[in-house]
Amino acid sequence: MSAEREHFSSKLGFILAAAGSAVGIGNLVGFPVAAAKNGGGAFLFIYAMFVILICLPVMMAEMSFGRHTNKDPLGAYNSISNNDKKWKLAGLLGVLTPFMIAVFYMVITVWIFGYLYNAVTGNLAALADPKMFGEFITSNSLFVYMIVVVAITGVILMSGVKEGIERAAKILMPSLFVLLILLVIYVLTLDNAFSGVAFYLVPDFSKINGSVINAALSQAFFSLSLGMGILVTYGSYISKKQDIADSSKLVALTDTGVAFIAGLMIMPAIFSFNPMVEPDKLNESSINLIFVLLPKIFLSLQMDIGYFGASAIASLFFLLVFFAAITSLVSIIEVPNAAVMDGMKVSRKKSLTYLAILMVFLTVLTSMSFGMSDTLTGLTHYAGASKSLFDVIYDVFYDTILPLNGLLICLFVISRWKMINFKKELDEGLEKGKHGFLLRYSEIALKTYIPMILALVFLNTV
Ligand code: PHE
Repeated sequence: MSAEREHFSSKLGFILAAAGSAVGIGNLVGFPVAAAKNGGGAFLFIYAMFVILICLPVMMAEMSFGRHTNKDPLGAYNSISNNDKKWKLAGLLGVLTPFMIAVFYMVITVWIFGYLYNAVTGNLAALADPKMFGEFITSNSLFVYMIVVVAITGVILMSGVKEGIERAAKILMPSLFVLLILLVIYVLTLDNAFSGVAFYLVPDFSKINGSVINAALSQAFFSLSLGMGILVTYGSYISKKQDIADSSKLVALTDTGVAFIAGLMIMPAIFSFNPMVEPDKLNESSINLIFVLLPKIFLSLQMDIGYFGASAIASLFFLLVFFAAITSLVSIIEVPNAAVMDGMKVSRKKSLTYLAILMVFLTVLTSMSFGMSDTLTGLTHYAGASKSLFDVIYDVFYDTILPLNGLLICLFVISRWKMINFKKELDEGLEKGKHGFLLRYSEIALKTYIPMILALVFLNTV
């Protein structure tokens, strides 16, 4: 297999694909909940600062690392470091992380698809039943939903970078945006909606403390799909003519914009359902919010807009989340896929087949760790609780390893690849003389305090 490396067809195609990766469940529910709990406008401000000051430079480093080497993360570390063993470990971690997070994300996507199916078929009352979620995640119907999700993801990935990933993003991202705007408009017409908006936006700086700052950075890092090798891999599919700084800005802006707008959908919905929400009681986890609280809210809409109206709103919402989840899932599976294709020199089809088998196996195990199997449910105990396989993946990879991967990329750029080569890569595709402020800032920040901050975050979660 020495076929030429595939590429995105245009700058827009790449930006939509990268934004498709970035916009996910984290934006639609994780961000609004985090902002509402942690000081509203004050959190938004800190979050935006982190996106600009820390995440954008890391994003540019990942993309240029990928484009320069034309490789997946493992191949990229290997090729610049000349197969240095130490850096090979970083590369392996750069491929293992997305693989494990993909399993975790697949489980959630399967649930979302199941809820979408139930909403479309008018089962709102069942979805809103407090016992529903617990029963649903241990039910056999999950396997059917899993087959559908694997099939959709598989078809997109099998079709390749341009015909699959890019084309899906070109359809799903605009649709997602339209759905989101429609839902925001509708939600803002509900009673008491504007107290939700106020709660979301009015800054409360007294809430800001060390752990809120940490949460804002982790949320920004996760939301922009950093530390997962995705932007390294997607970066290897863009042309030298593309301006990396400019593309990074657009991706970050889209991602942050969608997160911000999602807050205008979620918070008013919660407040119109329960005007008595007290800020401190808003202790929803994202999972609880999507699968328990929101279905209750949808059911309550029946009184105003009837059974069909309420089912339609619920269906649009789950469709929105499903679109967001699919484009993220595709991007994260593409990383180990590229690594297998590059490393083992096999075709896309073969590589995806191997991965599908492995992932389905792990997804089933992870799903079963919710009670279908006792052994898997109480697998480990730490932090004073019994943890399922799902929790373990979340705690280890998602929470701890992401900042570590970001840190490793920074250290690699500084010590092995060297700033001068990084700069050269960024200069490609720049219009002449347009070495703007962002580039100059990023070069300084990446070799000074960004690695220090990422190291602190990593040590803090360990
Ligand atoms: N950025 C995504 C989100 O906010 C996270 C993600 C991307 C997760 C890709 C998995 C794969 O939900």
